Amino acid sequence: MRTPVIAGNWKMHLTAGEAVALVKQLLASCDTDGVDVIICPPFTALAAVGPLLNGSRIALGAQNVHWEPQGAFTGEVSAPMLRDAGCRDVITGHSERRTLFGETDAMVHKKLKAVLQHGMTPIVCIGEMLAERDANKTFEVLTRQLDGALGPCAAEEIRKLILAYEPVWAIGTGRTATPEQAQESHAFIRGWFSKRFGIETAQAVRIQYGGSVNAANAASLLQQPDVDGALVGGASLKADAFSAIVKAALEPKAVRR
Ligand code: PGA
Repeated sequence: MRTPVIAGNWKMHLTAGEAVALVKQLLASCDTDGVDVIICPPFTALAAVGPLLNGSRIALGAQNVHWEPQGAFTGEVSAPMLRDAGCRDVITGHSERRTLFGETDAMVHKKLKAVLQHGMTPIVCIGEMLAERDANKTFEVLTRQLDGALGPCAAEEIRKLILAYEPVWAIGTGRTATPEQAQESHAFIRGWFSKRFGIETAQAVRIQYGGSVNAANAASLLQQPDVDGALVGGASLKADAFSAIVKAALEPKAVRR
């Protein structure tokens, strides 16, 4: 059985002081027994937030990483630096990185390799744009992203990562995929893992849904048999909303696969 995993992507929000205040609220309000909870503050808040999470069941994550361990890469942060800052998980290939900063599947692959090499868990994001969905190209796009970012991996690497399916048209738009749309894509992605790495690996990989997840819609999404958690943006900045999403992940599924 896959343990549900809820991650909060705080994006470019909150100063270190504000981040500490939110973490204190989360520690008081989140019941994390039976669910993996991750928060990904901006780099500048990692050092302030990390010590508060020590000994708690909320893990620290980062939003991005460079694939080289060090060097002349102005403005970048490496995997060993994130490890040193106390990170356990790292988001790679978020659609905002892809569309606004030109990240490619080949770059995402190098990033997730660096994250794994330094003993952390990559949260690898994929997802189609609205025009691609409307042109019935969703599965084609997902296949291209999976082939490019994960194709060259070994099965034991795949088992260690988290995959986040985030339809780009649902991110920050308030327009969530329906539970059926999410399940359809998640089942397709699990099928890709099965074909490429075998059924056991496919059954082990956790696949999160992301895109306008909130306290009201989380339960129906998380009930889907292949939805193993959520990557939450906007709602992760509010302790009550994020705690409600974590709680929804604890509900046993009516249908399992
Ligand atoms: P959202 O963001 O929940 O605000 O749509 C999700 C994400 O970008 O990971």
